[in-house]
Order: sequence, then structure tokens, then C-alpha cells
Amino acid sequence: MRKSDVAISIKGLSKFYKKFQALDQVSFQVKRGDFFAFLGPNGAGKTTTINVVTGLSNYQSGDVHVFGYDVTNEYLNSRRLIGLCAQEFNFDPFLSILQMLIYQAEYFGIPPWEARRRATALLERFQLADKRHCKHRALSSGMKKRLLLCRALIHDPEILILDEPTAGCDLELKFLIWDYLAQLNKEGKTIFLTTHYMEEAEKLCKTIGIINRGRIVRIGDKKEILQDKSLEEIFLEITSSE
Ligand SMILES: Nc1ncnc2c1ncn2[C@@H]1O[C@H](COP(=O)(O)OP(=O)(O)OP(=O)(O)O)[C@@H](O)[C@H]1O
Ligand SMILES: [Mg+2]
Repeated sequence: MRKSDVAISIKGLSKFYKKFQALDQVSFQVKRGDFFAFLGPNGAGKTTTINVVTGLSNYQSGDVHVFGYDVTNEYLNSRRLIGLCAQEFNFDPFLSILQMLIYQAEYFGIPPWEARRRATALLERFQLADKRHCKHRALSSGMKKRLLLCRALIHDPEILILDEPTAGCDLELKFLIWDYLAQLNKEGKTIFLTTHYMEEAEKLCKTIGIINRGRIVRIGDKKEILQDKSLEEIFLEITSSE
């Protein structure tokens, strides 16, 4: 259940790792239904922002809400609304991918019979049904990327947060993931992704946010941002990041 129609609301967020300030007074909002691309060079603070929004990381000051729920004080409510595709693969090595999805659903209180139904349907949708009894080690990296999507979607979240979903993908897989994401956004999911690919932001998103050295540089409509000549230098820095 949502308490607000603002998917992500961040106000005055500052985050330190010991003495190093990774986020400095970050403020922006993502509207429900938006397709938001968060751009920034290496070390800009994208993953740190995602970690705070998903409750994986603490922070020193600011207010962070997901659909109106405070990510610290109302963690269970806010986390339930988020599906997360992390930057790195972090699957349980001992489970088959079907079991892994069922366990993930159960973390969210979904009963076993419904968990199995959803897991089976997602594996079908993302063309992994024939691998359902394999462990994730037996999957190609493209399959693992799709498995990340299945896991993020198992509890039917309102918002999908993806940290560089197509990094290291070949063209075919990149286009396939783009198609999935466009489809999910059409179905009503709010999407927030980080990327270094300008083409990805240009093709898919509606809104762009740019962060550099822990500070928000600009947030705005895609067209307006991409045509802004004053941002050329930062775009160059972003595209040359790995
Ligand atoms: N656990 C940590 N301990 C100390 N410093 C950290 C930690 N995690 C991140 N940092 C630092 O915080 C800054 C922001 O890192 P973050 O991972 O958020 O960047 P990013 O924008 O996601 O970069 P990339 O595009 O390379 O993934 C960097 O300077 C990084 O070294
Ligand atoms: Mg990162």
C-alpha cells in the first residue's frame, strides 16, 4: 500500500563513510510511473544513494521516503515496495534458481504455493523456465541478469531499482533488457536505474538526474537535459567511465 504518489523523495541527504563525504545534501524526487535514469561518473554516489533508499546503508542527515514511508523508521513498508537489481550478482550458491525465487518471495510473506506460482511465471516470462532446477552457477551471465530481474519482481513491487542493469551485456542482451524494462514501465512500474550509457537514458527514460562527487548537478526532463550544452563536459566524463 502506498502512502504517497511520490515514489522516491530525498531531501537534504548526506552520507559519510568515516570522514569521507559520499553524498552532500542530495535532494530530488521520482514520481510514480516515471522512468528515471540516474547518471554520474564512477564514484559519484549512485550506488550509495540506492543503498540508502533500499535501507542497506545508514546516513547522517536527511529525509528519505519511498511512496511516503520513511526508509529508516518504516523500513518494512518502504522495502516491500521496492524490487532491487544490485550492481553485482549475489545469489545463494546452494539453491536451484526456482528455490531461490521461492525463498525470496517468502521473505516478503508470500505463501509457498503463491511463491511457486509467481516464480514459475517469472522464469517463463524471462525465458529461464528450462533452467529452473539449475543452480545459478550453471547460468550464462545474460541469464543471471534476467534472474536478477525475476528476483526483483517476485513480490510485485511498485518500483524497480536497477544499478547498471546492462553493464557488460552484449548488444542483443542489452536490447532484450531494454525491451523488458520498457514493458514493465508501460505496465505501471516506476523504474529508477543508474547507467553510464547515454543511449540507454535517451532511449528509455523520461527523467534524468545527474550526480557528481556526491552532489546533484541537474534533475529534469530527458529532452531538456540532453540538449543542454552546459552539461557536455559531465556527459563526456560519464560515458568514459567503465
Ligand atoms: N563501503 C564504503 N566504504 C568507504 N567508501 C565507500 C564505500 N562505498 C562507496 N564508497 C565511496 O563513496 C563514493 C561513492 O561510491 P558509489 O559506489 O556510490 O559510486 P557510484 O556512483 O555508484 O560509482 P560507479 O559508477 O563506479 O558504480 C566513492 O568515492 C566510493 O569510493
Ligand atoms: Mg555504483
